[in-house]
Amino acid sequence: MCGIVGYIGWREALPILLQGLKRLEYRGYDSAGLALLNGSIISVIKQKGSVSGLEAATVTLPEEMRNATIGIGHTRWATHGEPSDQNAHPFLNASRDIALIHNGIVENFSSLKQELISQGYIFLSETDSEVLVHLIDRIWKSDSRLDLESATRNALRHVDGAYGICVISSREPDKIIIARKGSPLVIGIGTGEYFIASDAAPIVEHTNKVVYLSDGELAVVTRDGYTVKSIENIEQAKIVTELDYSLDKIEKGGFEHFMLKEIFEQPEVMKNVMRGRVNPEKGLIHLGGISEYLDRLKQAKHIVICACGTSWHAALIGKYLIEEFARIKVEVDYASEFRYRNPIVGVDDVVILISQSGETADTLAALHVAKEKGALVMGICNVVGSTIARETLCGMYTHAGPEIGVASTKAFTAQVVMLYMLALSLSKGRTISHDEIALHLRELSCLPEKASRILELDGQIKGIAERFRDANNALYLGRGYNFPVALEGALKLKEISYIHAEGYPAAEMKHGPIALIDKDMPVIFIATHDSTYAKILSNIEEVRSRKGRVIAIANVGDGEVSRLTEDVIFIPSSSAPLSPLLTVIPLQLLAYHSATLRGCNVDRPRNLAKSVTVE
Ligand code: G6P
Repeated sequence: MCGIVGYIGWREALPILLQGLKRLEYRGYDSAGLALLNGSIISVIKQKGSVSGLEAATVTLPEEMRNATIGIGHTRWATHGEPSDQNAHPFLNASRDIALIHNGIVENFSSLKQELISQGYIFLSETDSEVLVHLIDRIWKSDSRLDLESATRNALRHVDGAYGICVISSREPDKIIIARKGSPLVIGIGTGEYFIASDAAPIVEHTNKVVYLSDGELAVVTRDGYTVKSIENIEQAKIVTELDYSLDKIEKGGFEHFMLKEIFEQPEVMKNVMRGRVNPEKGLIHLGGISEYLDRLKQAKHIVICACGTSWHAALIGKYLIEEFARIKVEVDYASEFRYRNPIVGVDDVVILISQSGETADTLAALHVAKEKGALVMGICNVVGSTIARETLCGMYTHAGPEIGVASTKAFTAQVVMLYMLALSLSKGRTISHDEIALHLRELSCLPEKASRILELDGQIKGIAERFRDANNALYLGRGYNFPVALEGALKLKEISYIHAEGYPAAEMKHGPIALIDKDMPVIFIATHDSTYAKILSNIEEVRSRKGRVIAIANVGDGEVSRLTEDVIFIPSSSAPLSPLLTVIPLQLLAYHSATLRGCNVDRPRNLAKSVTVE
């Protein structure tokens, strides 16, 4: 949420910043801006809208600013103040010698702003972020012994809330000051040049060596190196991490949208999640990231899984899996609720945090609550080195590769595969036999090939989307393992096509949603073979008799369902616990095509952003 880039080195900063901002646009696209520093001059260019709009506007920059080798850039997801040119970052102080960009929320901005206004400061935006630049200015001017670093550090001591900031000043023109609390920042290490970003995506094309800043740290980055200190001014030793992903993973690779590319990557992603962790022939599972804690995990009285959005839907499937296989009681909570409701968890419990980005503010806060209460905290994250991954005691990476599409797809399937393996690991030696585990693993290993077959139905699914593109509402119904998939299908549709959609357990339809059904209401049923199949058929009949328009996901060869509707998407069969990994794919494609047919930008759905680092 909000993307930050910075560059200091020997090359022209402008193209590096623009390219970096494009790579970060999934974090926000309400406005974009950058500040370039050359000698005693800072130039700021910023405007409402996308990075490509900003790029076009940079033609007006004078030659000496185009030659600047230091700069910072920002792409905004609006919190305080509407998307506009004035509210775009960077912000300058009145004497235009300090520029600042910020990701996060300054919770006490109102009182700070009043104080600064009473001291004569003039604000040009409605944002919370602008207080930071004036605060640094005031502190720096109040004491001639201070430098930019100490003025920034002192200013941050007055700030409540979350921040990831980059600050430059023409009074100290060979450095960038960065600091983080709650909003991620990474330094990329080049040769005589350094890159700063909210995540590794803009850095990967320049270097694979990175340092992750931790909460409460501030760094001074120059052309010769970087020093990281705590906010209390104590030097911190940092580990350089090597990134293991390449440029092709963050490009579209011939697909029209990142979302479509990521949907089509799912068979490969499933293999990557399993790679080195399962041996289906021998019935073995080894989850290295939790092996040391496996016995404690198995003894848990109670597991709570906390997540947000799509990850929360994966968590719900995790509950079904762990309870069925490992017979451990599982509760699933929205991280945003868990953190504020004084949950009952203690030292005998396990709290699992699921997050694609590993940075979602509410999930991170839930992690802190769980830690305070003494629970064993475990993470399932996609982004390597992310805050949640680093702050949990143990955990596993999903290895889905960078997910750029704002609407999550491949991260979801990776999370579900991970939870399936976790559930089997927790049952090993306790609730299910070795032979049963081997059987489940063999079935799991067949999933990528089945998923590929579903992707071949893309053309048919687009045809269905064409018939339903004008709908204003849609209902998604599923039961058991496919109830969370119904929720996820509805979320995908509303996120990217702006069609109002709701997911329900199919049996609950008669307790409310049935009142909505008429000839204009598409009802999407997940009607694969499991113990509730016959009941689902009855639900389809109930919808048909009220003239609802039925779309069904059914197993290949199912004559019953094709008797009830002509819009059937036939998918390969699987056991019920594995079915979400297959049933979700047609729903992702249905949402994708409905959205593109309606002219929506699926990679940048309005008002949404990836990596939600604010509450
Ligand atoms: C945002 C994204 C969703 C994502 C959710 C949780 O809302 O748009 O796609 O599911 O955040 O993100 P996380 O990174 O914690 O999985």
